[in-house]
Amino acid sequence: MKHLISPLDLSPDELSDLLSLAEKIYASPEKYSHCCNGKKLATLFYEPSTRTRLSFEAAMLNLGGSVLGFSSADSSSAAKGESVADTIRVISCYADICAMRHPKEGAPLVASMHSSIPVINAGDGGHNHPTQTLTDLLTIKSLKGHLDGLTIGFCGDLKFGRTVHSLINAMVRYPNTRFVLISPDELRIPAYLREETLDANHIPYEETRNLEAALPKLDILYMTRVQKERFFNEEDYIRLKDTFILDKKKLSLAREDMLILHPLPRVNEIATEVDEDPRAVYFKQANFGVYVRMALIMTLLGITVEN
Ligand code: NCD
Repeated sequence: MKHLISPLDLSPDELSDLLSLAEKIYASPEKYSHCCNGKKLATLFYEPSTRTRLSFEAAMLNLGGSVLGFSSADSSSAAKGESVADTIRVISCYADICAMRHPKEGAPLVASMHSSIPVINAGDGGHNHPTQTLTDLLTIKSLKGHLDGLTIGFCGDLKFGRTVHSLINAMVRYPNTRFVLISPDELRIPAYLREETLDANHIPYEETRNLEAALPKLDILYMTRVQKERFFNEEDYIRLKDTFILDKKKLSLAREDMLILHPLPRVNEIATEVDEDPRAVYFKQANFGVYVRMALIMTLLGITVEN
């Protein structure tokens, strides 16, 4: 049985098969509308979520399956002190597959070690968010046509942003990837990523505070919000939260074919005037998330559909 805990749990070939399946589902969703009949997805969300939880639920419903779960730690037995290990043993009796979001780094990994059903990491603290990465890769592949040779700018909270960590890990596997890491000094990517992922793989990258200077170089701009809930003090959050705001004026410095991605939710970092620009694809990105999660559920359950 397979779980998806880290973005690297899928080999490049498995990932490529998964993205192809997502593209097939996107093209003809009706062919897949009963392939999970009788199957149940449990969504175990110990942290707030809109897109991830609801797109997982929509994905399973679109496949003909059903969903059950909880959307906050307070409404589960975690509030009574139950461990993740005990919870997952029980959920394994109620569902065929589960997606777990947890504020503690490593909680979905612990769950997978005690589970008899596939566990999907739907975000663990400031660590990883592999299904957002699948969404991002499908968005880039569908709209750019390829995943290699891209210069990707990550802007905002690169320290706590788990979507950034996961996408960096996934992108270093494609040839000629370059990164421009745009953040305040306090929110630079963690040292372990710089050393074990970027330096170890000899990936070209630069770190800067200057969004305007970076913009003309980019094929993709990946904006992120400052992760308020992971700060130790409110003052630092308030000081840093509006460091970067992408507006029309700054966007005029970017290439005509640059794509703007954002995992959402947006707070202030992209002015709403940017939404009408054809380069702004973050709402399309959220839509791709449903199809890639449909492909992931089918893959982990070992369900195939003849074409
Ligand atoms: C992200 C997350 O939860 O890490 N949201 C999402 O799943 N699309 C990004 C964020 O919360 O900033």
